[in-house]
Amino acid sequence: MYYLDSKVENLHRIFDQNARNNYLRLDLNENPGGLPEEFINSVLDGVTPQFVSQYPETLHFTEVLANYLGTDNEHICLVNGSAEGIRYIIQAFTSQNGRIVGVVPSYFMFQVYSDMYGRRFIKVPYNEDLSMDVQNIINEMTPDTQLLVLLNPNNPVGNVYSDEEFEKLLQVAKEKQITVLVDEAYHYFYRKTFIKYAIEDNHIFVTRTFSKLFSMAGCRLGYVVGWPEGVEMVQKMCTPHNTNAFAMRFAEAVLETPGLLESLISKFVEGRQYLVDTLDAYGYIHQGEAGNFIFIKPNTDAQQIVEKMKTEKKILIKSYPNVGKFGHCLRVSIGEKVFMEKFIQALLELDR
Ligand SMILES: Cc1ncc(COP(=O)(O)O)c(C=O)c1O
Repeated sequence: MYYLDSKVENLHRIFDQNARNNYLRLDLNENPGGLPEEFINSVLDGVTPQFVSQYPETLHFTEVLANYLGTDNEHICLVNGSAEGIRYIIQAFTSQNGRIVGVVPSYFMFQVYSDMYGRRFIKVPYNEDLSMDVQNIINEMTPDTQLLVLLNPNNPVGNVYSDEEFEKLLQVAKEKQITVLVDEAYHYFYRKTFIKYAIEDNHIFVTRTFSKLFSMAGCRLGYVVGWPEGVEMVQKMCTPHNTNAFAMRFAEAVLETPGLLESLISKFVEGRQYLVDTLDAYGYIHQGEAGNFIFIKPNTDAQQIVEKMKTEKKILIKSYPNVGKFGHCLRVSIGEKVFMEKFIQALLELDR
């Protein structure tokens, strides 16, 4: 008899529109401006036929990255986008029916993987004012919980944990032997990191990506940081040669080009300041600037704005239903000022 996994069959997935058609995409938290063209050309300059024909070797770039992070290779596993690392952690550190606790709304793939592999994802909602009460998370950290998922900063709300809050969560996780996964996809937009815990302690992972500030979403590259035995488990889950040679070449060049990261950050900060100031000037309530995205409460119907942005303005943004005091609201990726100007102009026209 043919077999279909009913968990996969019943899975609800949203596949993003995969043809850009000149849309300005502010719905995926990419960098719409990208890396400088001359940088791209210089990185591609030394590509040889062998570079393309050979399987990628990860040792060199893992060393470069470990050096950059101030750690050793044994603490790092390279993955094909951090979404892949998250998947492997869920597969290897939780069981059938295993309990996973996470904040919602959040990056949706945590719930997708939980459903895909038959895990129970326990949702901890935000308070009405969109603050996150750590005690509510702790209340769900039962002895049979296997994984706690935290995002630093959180997507889409963009709030963060203080050291005290984080350490309190870690302490409970330790007492109850719960593995902790901290998703730091938006690190660099928000500098505070919990990576030292993943390097120095056991049973805590940090996942990071080159898709966001590093502006390399098209290359697919991320990494998992953790204790050596944990990282080895993740490594064992990987498909052979899972990380792309071009991705590692670009990532190494970004890390080693003086001033490049700083220039990406300062362009982003300028765009964010412009966006926040303009939203304030027009009386919009907003939140979430810790990442490279912002949550905006519109004056009119959020879903209608999303649709009109697409059809009339060729701009893609997202709407989120029922988010605390924001109700139905918009989530917009933040990028360079020129893109934010386009978005604001469209918003002011459509939202009245
Ligand atoms: C919070 C969060 N984590 C992880 C990812 C996955 O990123 P990637 O697979 O591109 O590394 C995303 C992507 O948007 C995200 O928002």
